[in-house]
This record gives sequence, C-alpha cells and structure tokens, in this order.
Amino acid sequence: MSAEQPLVLGIETSCDETGVGIVRGETLLVDAVASSVDDHARFGGVVPEVASRAHLEEMVPTIERACREAGVRLRDLDAVSVTSGPGLAGSLMVGVASAKALALSLGVPLYGVNHLASHVAVDIVEHGPLPEPTMALLVSGGHSSLLLVPDVTSDIRSLGSTIDDAAGEAFDKVARVLGLPFPGGPYIDRAAREGDVVIDFPRGLTTGRDMERHRFDFSFSGLKTAVSRWVQAREAAGEPVPVNDVAASFQEAVVDVLTRKAVLACREQGAQHLQIGGGVAANSRLRAMAQSRCDDAGIELRVPRPGLCTDNGAMVAALGAQMVLKGRDASRLDLPADSSMPVTQISA
Ligand code: KG4
Ligand code: ZN
Repeated sequence: MSAEQPLVLGIETSCDETGVGIVRGETLLVDAVASSVDDHARFGGVVPEVASRAHLEEMVPTIERACREAGVRLRDLDAVSVTSGPGLAGSLMVGVASAKALALSLGVPLYGVNHLASHVAVDIVEHGPLPEPTMALLVSGGHSSLLLVPDVTSDIRSLGSTIDDAAGEAFDKVARVLGLPFPGGPYIDRAAREGDVVIDFPRGLTTGRDMERHRFDFSFSGLKTAVSRWVQAREAAGEPVPVNDVAASFQEAVVDVLTRKAVLACREQGAQHLQIGGGVAANSRLRAMAQSRCDDAGIELRVPRPGLCTDNGAMVAALGAQMVLKGRDASRLDLPADSSMPVTQISA
C-alpha cells in the first residue's frame, strides 16, 4: 500500500441505509448508498427486520457499484472498515459479516468503527483535517449528541445527549401529528418556510435546575407533547390547524436549543470549530441559525453537504482511513456487532 494514501472501503448498515464508500487517504472517491426508507414509510418508522433483509439484498450490488464508479478493484484495497455499532443489531450484523468476509478474502486489515465517530470523521473528506479539538453536534433520527473531539481516532468525549427522543425522531413524530409523511424532517422544513413562528413552544432543559443538571443534554419529548396538545385543542374547538405556523414554531424551538447549547459548549470548552452532522443537519433553519450564532461567537461552522450528513459508507471509509493514517490497531476478525457501542469507544 501507499502508506500516505491508503485505499479504504467502508461499509455502513446501522439503520436503513446500505452504504459503501471508498476513500484514498483524505479524498473521497465514491459514496454509494441504497436506502430502504420507502419500505418503512407505510409503517411510520424503520422496521428492523425489513431493514436487515434490504441490507442483505443490497450489499453485494452496492459494493460492486462503488468499485465500478470509483474505478477501483477490490484487490487494490489496503483496508476495510465497517460500522460495528451503535445501531440496529440485525442490520449491523449484515455489514460486519460482509466486511469480515471481504477483509479475510483480501488479506487486509479490518477496522470496526463507531457510527457516531464516523459522522464526525466524514467532514475530513469534505473540508479537510479536523481542527483539534472540534465540537460536534450530531442530530439524526437515532441520536442527538454533543461531543468534544480532541482526536477522532482516539479521543471523543460525550458532553451530553438526549434524555428521551432524538431530534430527528421529534421531527418525525410531530410531522405525523400534522399529517405529514415519513420521514417528517424535510416536510416540516418545507412547511415551516411558508409559516411564521407564532407559538411559543417549550425549550426543554434550558432553564433553572434542569439546565444545571443537564447543561449539554437535550429533551424533545415534552415539546412533542406540547405540539400534540396544541393541535388537539385547535381541533376540539373546531378550528383549522395552521400547519405551517405549527411547523415553523416547533422547528424554531428545536433549533434554538440545539444551537444555543452547541455554542455554549464551544465557549466553555475552548473549541473554535463546530461541526454539525446527522440527518437533521440538512435542516435549513438549523444551518442558518447555527451560522449566525457561530458568526456572533467567532466560531467556525463546518457542515458537510446533506448527502454526507445522513448515513452513508463514505463516513466509515473516512474514519477507517484515519485509523490507518494514525497507525491505530486494526480490529480482530471476531469483532462483534455492538448495538449499544458507547461513543467513547471509537473502534472495536
Ligand atoms: O442520519 P439519518 O439519515 O438517519 C439516522 O437516523 O441515523 O437521519 C434521519 C433523520 C430523520 O428523522 C429525518 O426526519 C431527519 O433526519 N431529517 C430532517 C431533515 N432531513 C432529514 N430533519 C429536519 N429537517 C430536515 N431538512
Ligand atoms: Zn447516523
């Protein structure tokens, strides 16, 4: 291998996206994703068994497509990396088993890596090396975390996370209350652009004792309940529900809390760079408010393009390549899929 520019294939199967990415060093060559999201839409959420089956069907075609589009032969790979956790157990197992087979047959090292750390590492192939430390706000359907990242291959510290629903989950549940399709985030984003912030919904864990005890934690379940109650009261009174205004007001509450706590964390921890990742990072109001609050605080904001914020294989390849570049130990071939892998554990 060329030690400076390892060619790494990364596999992601923690939820409903079968992702295969290939990077050379810090350059992204291809990001192939097959999503089963449409299969879950009619259930209003991801069905684990349906997701695992889709991964099985899509794995080989997606690997082949990635290699073809990147002009790479499998035997040229220097390493294979895979999401070993956290995520849906059955889905993770498909990716981990595939990566083991690939690494074993090619005789290359295998890196089982943390999904959340990969969400952070992907920004390296988008915007270059990560400043150390970087503050990372990860917001998706499955996670909402504020992480201090001194070194994405060896040292990630969790400052806080959601104590109930993830941010994306709140978007999806509120969308359902408003009669919008799944996944609801993009629909709320769109509706909110046509609405006004006229309802003052609660900002969880931002005041008094709550803020003292949960400085960098989030809570969205009270907000979701407040939106439901507000809508029910309107319906009970026989009045029309102003969907766009409710969407805008709800979205404002979520985005206000996320950006306020993220900027506070940067200030207190001395981080001059904030990175936002996960599916909710596609939200237009989150991007705008984060940008203006970071500008005010003298913090540089880094947000990868939307396709690299949602789950994908490029992020796993990006972290795998960093592990090679920094000389970190490879994983054993009997590494497990760990559905509850803590974010502080970067590799298996
Ligand atoms: O990262 P992701 O693709 O999958 C995981 O959950 O890991 O994130 C999906 C989540 C969904 O909850 C979806 O509603 C939300 O990201 N999302 C958005 C937007 N686009 C996707 N939420 C708010 N605004 C958006 N524009
Ligand atoms: Zn994710």
